[in-house]
Amino acid sequence: MKFPLFPTQASSVAQQIDYLYWALVGVSAAMLLIIFLPMIFFLFKYRRGKQADRSPAHLPQTTLEVTWTVIPLLLMMGMFAWGANLYFTVERPPPGALEINVVGKQWMWKIQHPEGNREINELHVPVGRIIKLTLASQDVIHSLFLPNFRIKQDVVPGRYTTEWFTANRVGAFYLFCSEFCGTQHSGMRGRVVVMEPAAYEQWLINGQPGSTLVQSGERLYRELGCSGCHTGNSVVRAPPLEGVFGKPVPLQSGEVVVADEGYLRDSIIFPNKQIVGGYATNMPSFQGRVTEEEVFQLVAYIKALGKKSPPPPPGTR
Ligand code: CUA
Repeated sequence: MKFPLFPTQASSVAQQIDYLYWALVGVSAAMLLIIFLPMIFFLFKYRRGKQADRSPAHLPQTTLEVTWTVIPLLLMMGMFAWGANLYFTVERPPPGALEINVVGKQWMWKIQHPEGNREINELHVPVGRIIKLTLASQDVIHSLFLPNFRIKQDVVPGRYTTEWFTANRVGAFYLFCSEFCGTQHSGMRGRVVVMEPAAYEQWLINGQPGSTLVQSGERLYRELGCSGCHTGNSVVRAPPLEGVFGKPVPLQSGEVVVADEGYLRDSIIFPNKQIVGGYATNMPSFQGRVTEEEVFQLVAYIKALGKKSPPPPPGTR
């Protein structure tokens, strides 16, 4: 008979997470037994009226103190180091990831692939590739939970969060929202479909994506008038955006920030929050004028600006 306690492990970190989990359970259970078994034993041995030796015991106080301080300390520090190390692994996407954007909204997951493919409540990915999900919320806090990959990440309005995984098993796996987000929270679920790389490429092509994320971003960039200011020969002087992604940006406040996805998003939605040194504060906010999906497209375009070549079309990776 099958009695699965845990969902099937389907990612590179799933096994490591489970090892840690069982180790913590094991240590906790051992501590429980070490304390409770003697306690129960003494409960009977020294019961009132029982004949037992009650003369004061002479124990090596210092040795005892040091022993029961040092052993648990080492044990706890070991668990901390193990957990922290694994936490860093889970929180830091390795380089070279395939980047996919996810927008959570009441009550669905909207997914955009760089090739332009879009899907709702389904996420198709190739097996064996590092997948980095950049998460945004259109309304309230959601949380993207992929139990088979043992990862979960809050999706917070107003900022980007990320989670990553490398699926090591082909198949379909559950995808949940694990943050109560309104009446239909429980219906905010879907599946991750892990495919062989060739099947994934075929799926991308079959989806007839039309324009890539970068191309959609470029179109928006022109339609919204960004290009009117952010190009070299424009009348209004605004910071040039070619190659800005990933670079440090000196701000008027004297601070220096790195132009990551979150910075680019903030600059579109709250342009007056972080003014680039030497520039005026005359950019209008695009809050409410663009959806989170469109912000992703703009960010993808800005990231591609100044790069030698645009991302390759599907089928050539
Ligand atoms: Cu979204 Cu719960």
